[in-house]
Amino acid sequence: MAGNKTLFFCKECGYESAKWLGQCPSCKQWNTMTEAPGQKSRAIQKTSYGRSAARSDNKPVSFSKIETDEEERFSTGFSEMNRVLGGGAVKGSIVLTGGDPGIGKSTLVLQMCRNMALDGRQVLYVSGEESLRQIKIRAGRIGSMPDSLSVLCETYLDDICDTARELKPHVIIIDSIQTMSCALSDSAPGSPSQVKECTMMLLRLAKEEGITVFIIGHVTKEGVVAGPRMLEHMVDTVLYLEGEKNASYRILRCVKNRFGATDEMGFFEMTSEGMKEVSNPSAHMISGRAKDAPGSVISCLVEGTRPIMVEIQALTMRSDFGIPRRTASGTDPNRVNILMAVMEKHSGVHLAGYDAYVNIAGGIRVTEPACDLAIVMALAGSFKSRELSEDTVCFGEVGLSGEVRAVTRVKDRIAEAAKLKFKTCIIPRVSMVSLDKKDIGKYEINVVGVSDIRQAIEYL
Ligand code: TYD
Ligand code: MG
Repeated sequence: MAGNKTLFFCKECGYESAKWLGQCPSCKQWNTMTEAPGQKSRAIQKTSYGRSAARSDNKPVSFSKIETDEEERFSTGFSEMNRVLGGGAVKGSIVLTGGDPGIGKSTLVLQMCRNMALDGRQVLYVSGEESLRQIKIRAGRIGSMPDSLSVLCETYLDDICDTARELKPHVIIIDSIQTMSCALSDSAPGSPSQVKECTMMLLRLAKEEGITVFIIGHVTKEGVVAGPRMLEHMVDTVLYLEGEKNASYRILRCVKNRFGATDEMGFFEMTSEGMKEVSNPSAHMISGRAKDAPGSVISCLVEGTRPIMVEIQALTMRSDFGIPRRTASGTDPNRVNILMAVMEKHSGVHLAGYDAYVNIAGGIRVTEPACDLAIVMALAGSFKSRELSEDTVCFGEVGLSGEVRAVTRVKDRIAEAAKLKFKTCIIPRVSMVSLDKKDIGKYEINVVGVSDIRQAIEYL
């Protein structure tokens, strides 16, 4: 019957259709439908999805009878990584790690395997990208490998799952999901249907055998994990390893976590012996900054549960051409344009006719509005050639009428600034109200509140 029917998939969301469509009806993206030839009929797929042995035991349970034992967790040997995962790896969970090529995904995961194997766990590292020899060479840079860590070079997932069911390792690594193929789908490795089918299979393996599965995924040009977007929906945790290729910092960021907080970040440094944890990222992020330089301002962000100091740099220059150039790296260029318009209108800093460049030092990406004030101060500083004193930190959201608005977790940010020996903290005046005098008295730091950007710029 429907055995040879051609199906079309949306590359973004996994929507299926029997015929090609210009626009995906589900996610409204254009030109994302791709052909997935030779799909097995849905009837066959249904039976294989439902193959779970435990199926007939599943009965509805009343809420009051559900046991809420803590999920079983174990350490990855990296405290930064444990925190990003929400307190360690969870037994039977499935974690997807994405990142640009060459950023260090395989290195980080291999080191994690080594740590877990040294802790006495059985670990199976499956590579579809590198040969045993290549892995051995990489391992040589990291350190000696314990016997409980085994390596398998294989791309056929059905065989991998059979091996895993025999070996019953605690942890299995799939490097990478785009190289794997399984019998349920005839399409090429890395294609949406193949990736989806393989992940489904790994999901079953994780849940049935209680094996923790780490999947490595390639990312597309746009920076999301390649394959259908629904891959991110299927797994429990999604991590991204980011960083600038030529800088040695790597940031492990959590964007989805069924077992913990999202937006948590872990800091690593790529060295000649693999990844090293950076335990005090704030100090690292602002080390090497030019002291008393106009256009350099320190701000404090909160990412996940931890405050982090960052250096915001700006450069403004009279434009030689009619249309000034504005670029921003590490932050949203549109946001910078809005802030420049607000400055023009409400603070008497006339940036029209000036090129402006904004950069967040250290290769970190900033999305929090709390750094608005620091961007404004950096731009104004560069424009006026006046520097903010090097021991001053500022943060606050800037509104369209030039007002400085409240931000969350003010106390934590001030504490972090005090820890790094900053002397003055410029914060939104509205946030002063929520602060206890006693709380601030503890730290040797001078806290000043500003209500609009004009006041803030006077501190330059
Ligand atoms: P890799 O883990 O292979 O990246 P991915 O799996 O994300 O594609 O990392 C490759 C890069 O890391 C390569 O440029 C070499 C570098 N590297 C080090 O700097 N130190 C090391 O100890 C190792 C193993 C790799
Ligand atoms: Mg790799």
